[in-house]
Amino acid sequence: MSPFRLTRTLPKDATDAALRADVRHGLTQTPRTLPPKWFYDAHGSRLFNRITELPAYYPFIAERELLRAHAGDIAQATGARTLIELGSGSSEKTRYLLDALPGLHTYLPVDVSESALRHAAQVLINEHPDLHVHALVADFTSTLTLPPAPGPRLVAFLGSTIGNLLPAERASFLTSVRTLLSPGDFLLLGADLVKDPAQMVAAYDDTATGITAAFNKNVLSVINRELGADFDPDAFEHVALWDAAREWIEMRLRSRTAQSVKIPALDLVVDFADGEDLRTEISAKFRRSGLRAELAHSGLELAAWFSTPDARFALALATPHGRAATPLPAGQVTACVR
Ligand code: SAH
Ligand code: AVI
Repeated sequence: MSPFRLTRTLPKDATDAALRADVRHGLTQTPRTLPPKWFYDAHGSRLFNRITELPAYYPFIAERELLRAHAGDIAQATGARTLIELGSGSSEKTRYLLDALPGLHTYLPVDVSESALRHAAQVLINEHPDLHVHALVADFTSTLTLPPAPGPRLVAFLGSTIGNLLPAERASFLTSVRTLLSPGDFLLLGADLVKDPAQMVAAYDDTATGITAAFNKNVLSVINRELGADFDPDAFEHVALWDAAREWIEMRLRSRTAQSVKIPALDLVVDFADGEDLRTEISAKFRRSGLRAELAHSGLELAAWFSTPDARFALALATPHGRAATPLPAGQVTACVR
């Protein structure tokens, strides 16, 4: 049986303090906002997994296609012995990388959701009995301290979760990822690309099933449970819209009426006007030139770019500046840039 460890780098009181600070800050500013990381308690993680089964939620399908087609190229280019995955969730698509990397010694999945990490590990340790799996309950936007593990290292950040960070957060996130990388290490970034707005909105507005609405409203249930608040999720409407100027999808919760919500743990009452929006998530969409510039700004160089034939989604492979990637086999990549 594969060695499995789980380390909690987020003590419960630090998580509580962070939630309190985020809720106070986000709900007392105009417009009101909440950071998306609070969606993912055990129920939220399950709801996200159900989203990934929706035919309209193309990012999951497209990235899986890319990993299936190019895991071998990525394995060849990186020769990774340690795979670190940020926001690993179910690790469902990661299996293509795990299967393709012949010399892989250690897998370090990192997530705020302990339940997601435990479920994923159960499956993985059966499928890869020799792999060292060390799960870390940690916030990838904070400074990460990783356990020692052999190089070369590949840091994977899949699902286009990078798009859930605001531009300034993305810059500091990429800079801190850069500090994790030594020469010869790589970052593999999943990026959802700008495309027809109708297709993007449909991925976030599945009115037929209501699963994305339930995922969106789950943040209210988390605040009710953790801070004793009295949000009525039915008093809010799920909204998904495309912001063409900022090139991101916004998920919001729109108050169906004028209402006051009590948050006793913060000694706070929040008054929502009828129709007032609370922004719960941004999901930025990318262009190759923009992502390349963002990577370069953080000291990372684009080594390869794999995109689906319909240009819906891409995997960007990046290295610390000045380090040439192992050339990728010609003809096997949709696009390879240097
Ligand atoms: N990578 C998976 C899951 C994406 S869902 C996929 O591509 O399918 C986003 C994941 O990131 C969730 O599991 C969530 O718990 C985790 N997450 C969100 N914000 C986080 C943060 N700040 N730190 C660590 N994990 C985070
Ligand atoms: C995790 N993240 C990349 C998802 C996204 O598409 O932005 C979260 C999500 N929100 C609604 N549906 C899925």
